[in-house]
Amino acid sequence: PPLEKMVGLPDFDWAARKKLNGSAYTYYRNGAAGEWSYRNNLEVFQRFRLRPRVMVDIVNIEDSLPTTILGQKYSAPFFIAPCARGGLAHPDAELNFVKGAAEENILYMASLFSSKSFDDIYAARVPGNSSSGNDTQQALFQQVYLTDDINETRELFQKIEKAGAKAIIMTVDSAADGNRHRAARYGVGSADSSYSLLTWDLYHQFTKMTSLPIVPKGIQTVEDARLAVQNGVKAIYLSNHGGRQLDTTPSSLEVALEIYEEAPEIFQQVEVFADGGVRYGADVLKLLALGVKAVGVGRPFMYSNAFGVEGVKRVSKLLKHEIAIDAANLGVADLKKIGPEYVNWKSVNAW
Ligand code: FNR
Repeated sequence: PPLEKMVGLPDFDWAARKKLNGSAYTYYRNGAAGEWSYRNNLEVFQRFRLRPRVMVDIVNIEDSLPTTILGQKYSAPFFIAPCARGGLAHPDAELNFVKGAAEENILYMASLFSSKSFDDIYAARVPGNSSSGNDTQQALFQQVYLTDDINETRELFQKIEKAGAKAIIMTVDSAADGNRHRAARYGVGSADSSYSLLTWDLYHQFTKMTSLPIVPKGIQTVEDARLAVQNGVKAIYLSNHGGRQLDTTPSSLEVALEIYEEAPEIFQQVEVFADGGVRYGADVLKLLALGVKAVGVGRPFMYSNAFGVEGVKRVSKLLKHEIAIDAANLGVADLKKIGPEYVNWKSVNAW
């Protein structure tokens, strides 16, 4: 299928199914166990109805899409979520995400398990993009999987800091392998089956080794959101890893709602990021309405890489356009002023 035929993010799933070989597509598409969380991530958004306001002057809505993410300036409140093995879709692998993100002026979070080397990814950055202050280098965030090996972590942080990443995204939802039946059937399981013990004590040791903010990715309860804030994080990242780790975990929209109901101050205290199942402009709006600062998109970008950098850019352009037209139809004049009153938070049919 040609790129011009891709009219929305779900189309890239269909295209990747045709363009990639079976095991590559399966690795990207896979969710854990019965894939309930995978499906719930997608379906949860339609269980909350929008509450559109009319007769609102929305003509300048596009001007309000740009935002800052941990102090870095970007053109939209969404980013490319960190995903492993970009090389399964394209020989240039993650370099297409770096370039696409630069041209679209959106944030790319690079995965530690990328197909391209760390050095190649950082060398591909485009100067003069999405940065603040005097540093004119494209601002990337670096995702990591950490262990209690302090020396290994110190070396990794030094490498990341030297390369010029602006934040460290510390994935905390993967204490053990995801239980991925679909991929296992294809023989594309996870790399190993070890356990890693991350604790807040270790986090404090980690923070002494770097001046970069360390953002926990994979917060799934209000309790852990509170603990993260108490332990001094600058941001938290709500995620169930695209439903790939532990099945029947909540979607980030449900976690954001739990935080909004029980500890709404958290959205003021730290920046909140969220991902999982975001495919439409209105999905982004519902997360922003609760106070989420920026929204991650995983699989659609991974699939779009089957078209190379043009595919990556197309996903970004389509989502920007949908955010703007959906916000206009919702009667939101300024995306920064969207609030929970634009959504009816009574779920219309329980999971
Ligand atoms: C991921 N994800 C992920 N997360 C992470 O912290 N480190 C990683 O290396 C990976 N790798 C990875 C590979 C693939 C193929 C996918 C699909 C996902 C999870 C990712 O960051 C994000 O949380 C989800 O992809 C968001 O859900 P959607 O947008 O894919 O539905």
